[in-house]
Amino acid sequence: MTAIPAHGGSLVDLRVSNTEREALLTQLQHAPVIPINRWTISDLDLIGVGAFSPLTGFLNEGDYRSVVDRMRLADGTVWSIPITLAVDANTVKLLSVGKIAALVGEEDGITYGSIQVESIYTVDQKHEAVQVFKTDDSEHPGVQKLFERPNTYVGGSIRLLERPQPDRFQEYYFDPAETRRLFAERGWRTVVGFQTRNPVHRAHEYIQKSAMEIVDALFLNPLVGETKSDDVPADVRMKSYVALLEGYYPKDRTFLGVFPAAMRYAGPREAIFHAIVRKNYGCTHFIVGRDHAGVGDYYGTYEAQEIFKNFEASELGISPLFFEHSFFCTKCGNMASNKTCPHGKEDHLTLSGTKVRALLRDGICPPPEFSRPEVAKILIEGMAIEPTTV
Ligand code: ADX
Repeated sequence: MTAIPAHGGSLVDLRVSNTEREALLTQLQHAPVIPINRWTISDLDLIGVGAFSPLTGFLNEGDYRSVVDRMRLADGTVWSIPITLAVDANTVKLLSVGKIAALVGEEDGITYGSIQVESIYTVDQKHEAVQVFKTDDSEHPGVQKLFERPNTYVGGSIRLLERPQPDRFQEYYFDPAETRRLFAERGWRTVVGFQTRNPVHRAHEYIQKSAMEIVDALFLNPLVGETKSDDVPADVRMKSYVALLEGYYPKDRTFLGVFPAAMRYAGPREAIFHAIVRKNYGCTHFIVGRDHAGVGDYYGTYEAQEIFKNFEASELGISPLFFEHSFFCTKCGNMASNKTCPHGKEDHLTLSGTKVRALLRDGICPPPEFSRPEVAKILIEGMAIEPTTV
């Protein structure tokens, strides 16, 4: 069975063999060091294993400007989020175009990789913010992160020497080559990818299962890299996904694997990025619901769906599946959306994320029409409070 092609044609693999590692490490002994934080380590890793195919490194100036201004790499390939390496003024002084540099974890001193420096350039971060996040408001968590970084970027191809080691849930880490192989082994021709940075509630379950009616399998692919501090921590979420799948999903049609990337909160542009990356993991379809990757009121409810109109289906190579805002309708007695339910708002159970977090913090399970009790219990335990039911 032929798997869906990776974005740009082939899956990138920049890992080194043992002999290459020795040679590269020797070369790096005399090379300048670029300290990298956890976010950049995860970007490096995802480039290295091909999750960000066709990228083979951090964006060069030409690709960066093209991605920021027209959501494409310089060669025209669709790419919506700039993946960049920011360096401080002191480090920049040590670098030269055409030379190699070591990418070293700032916390642990591990040499995670190398970069062959191809361009060093200064950017207008306000412009980047407005283009990518549609705002330069520093209250926006993605914009805030962007403005915290130096505005000089280094572009160039990378090699991956070490992988960041997860301390929990190792069994749910799969590289794109592995998920592709495992999907094929299971005989799945069509797989729908689901991005989430939240616990899976009934609305998520509803749109996932609606999609599962028309494809062979679901790839539940929660993002477990950096998120903002008030999002539910990844390890608590992971426990809840395991319990949910165990209780409510067919084992032979679901696959849980993490997406170890940082959350950008770039709404529409991140939806495109999320879809392309899931194609690299072997998905043929990708779910985009309401306010995908959004935060606050920065994006319209369906903007992350509308942005797909800018691209030809063949340029994306993965089919987005769009879902409207879903809820439990007390009159229908089931999950629905405005596409399937004729009743008014007063019959619809919707709880804001803030309200749900407040309930959970107080040890109160949200109603089962909102969250499966097994999930709510884990979330409450994760917040270290004894559960009671409403
Ligand atoms: S996201 O930042 O990862 O997009 P979240 O985990 O809440 O946030 O959403 C995961 C996916 O489910 C996204 O595609 C989002 O649009 C969709 N989604 C979340 N809640 C709903 C809902 N009530 N109705 C329809 N789609 C939803």
